[in-house]
Amino acid sequence: MKGVLLAGGTGSRLYPLTRITNKHLLPIYDRPMIAYAVDALVQAGISEIMVVTGGTHAGEFLRLLSNGEEHGVDRLLYAYQERPGGIAEALGLAERFVGDDPVLVMLADNVFGRSIQDTVNRFAEQAKGARIVLASVLEPEHLRHLGVPELAPDGRVVRIVEKPEDPPSQYCVTGVYCYDPSVFEVIATLVPSRRGELEITDVNNHFIEAGAMAYDVTEGFWGDAGESIDAYYTVNDHVRRFGANLP
Ligand code: DAU
Repeated sequence: MKGVLLAGGTGSRLYPLTRITNKHLLPIYDRPMIAYAVDALVQAGISEIMVVTGGTHAGEFLRLLSNGEEHGVDRLLYAYQERPGGIAEALGLAERFVGDDPVLVMLADNVFGRSIQDTVNRFAEQAKGARIVLASVLEPEHLRHLGVPELAPDGRVVRIVEKPEDPPSQYCVTGVYCYDPSVFEVIATLVPSRRGELEITDVNNHFIEAGAMAYDVTEGFWGDAGESIDAYYTVNDHVRRFGANLP
């Protein structure tokens, strides 16, 4: 399974910190943010990774991660996103790297308390379609900033609503997505959303409509360190006290 780490975007919710660097290079406890996402993939057995980034600080990722050896990555590639056209657009840049393999995509501002190994194992067995990771989020105010699944009584995902006024469940879609290689055909059909981006939620809704979406619910901590300055410090505090990506 290939891994794609998405580290582009503007990081505007963390301005002015992100005027002078890329969000994913900001510290989480004792390491730059993206190091936790690299660890999450490597610990789950994914050692061929493409980092997609953009903007004026892209070169710093090379200085930090180099060829990946120090981080346990066998093959590390980079892609440059010309403008922040959305998560699905950024993933589209990895098409040739992924080829005919399944792929795990991770947003590099997401930090998990627990390892994502089980999800990787289950997707390797699933082989086709898509698999996402949900986290329990109880506060509606928080859910309004995220993708939220509507769940049927039997637990099936009916659809995902991006940044809903009225959240249809108490779960969010985290930034870990597994896809078979048909995901690139889906991305090719997308049209930009109202905010001018190719949305990963549209990709996921496509797999849901095709009856090809599975999910796991993470049992440990989950945080999106790019969501707000408070979320950034919540993630920092958690990692400092308890660590991340624990078995
Ligand atoms: O963190 C989980 C949430 O991530 C999900 O619940 C949402 O469904 C999903 O849309 C996403 O929402 P965000 O509003 O947090 O997405 P954001 O624009 O902050 O981008 C998330 C990551 O994707 C960020 O770490 C950088 C990367 N990215 C984003 C854009 C727009 C890119 O690499 N390129 C881009 O063009």
